[in-house]
Amino acid sequence: MAEPSQIELDVVRRLIGGAHFLTVLTGAGVSAESGIPTFRGPGGLWRTFRAEDLATPEAFLRNAKLVWEWYDWRRGLIAKAEPNPGHRAIAAWERILPGFTLITQNVDGLHDRAGSRNVLKVHGDIWEMRCFECGVRKVDLRAPLPVLPPKCARCGGLMRPGVVWFGESLSEDVWMRAEQAARASDIFLVAGTSAQVYPAAGLVSLAKHAGAVIVEVNLEESGVSSIADAVLRGPAGEILPQLAPTNKRPDEAARSIRP
Ligand code: OAD
Repeated sequence: MAEPSQIELDVVRRLIGGAHFLTVLTGAGVSAESGIPTFRGPGGLWRTFRAEDLATPEAFLRNAKLVWEWYDWRRGLIAKAEPNPGHRAIAAWERILPGFTLITQNVDGLHDRAGSRNVLKVHGDIWEMRCFECGVRKVDLRAPLPVLPPKCARCGGLMRPGVVWFGESLSEDVWMRAEQAARASDIFLVAGTSAQVYPAAGLVSLAKHAGAVIVEVNLEESGVSSIADAVLRGPAGEILPQLAPTNKRPDEAARSIRP
């Protein structure tokens, strides 16, 4: 893996600093340096567990306790983790760049804890739950949960994790906003995702066809490396902070008064 050169990092930093609409799509790799396992890499969750047993509505109906035990274990891991410099760099972009959108496939909430405010969570949020019967939603930050599976305080039905399972549709509202951001972006940065899971991975080609410059940050080749205009190979927690733009566009910086 060749590390990106200073020139490559500078070029991408300038692109980001000059972007009118910057959209960032993140995946599990962005949380890997916080100690959260990814899905498909070494030590990845789908190498040890079968998605069919744990992350489908059928699995939940078969054995809600087992499904909840797995999510409760993951909630415990995440509760002990801290956001890393990659999450914090992304949160800083939101404060600096007006046309910024963050889309994440991660359910861990580490972007929120790093200070990101408007996160489009296309695969849901592991800290939310909703009733399988009446649909009522709530946020519950306890880890571990005292009783598994948790029950609905309103109707007594089974609560389910507020994440998207295989075979389920994404939230229409969140997805619409994610697509809009992808189409509008002039720079689309995709970080720490294998880009194997659709429709989320399709946002990259959507942005590309709409004219965005695609920048990838990943340790390894992914499903979208071939359409990326710039590829920065390395850990997101090290590379993203190096892309921090100044808070002025290059043209504004050139016009500003200097002492
Ligand atoms: P994957 O586990 O499929 O991919 C993680 C990616 O992160 C790989 O491309 C790694 O090379 C890269 N990576 C690992 N560590 C990194 C680091 N420190 N810095 C940069 N890159 C790193 O995870 P996702 O692509 O997020 O969905 O998986 C997508 C979806 O599949 C998840 O949201 C989840 C899963 O099934 C659902 O549960 C619905």
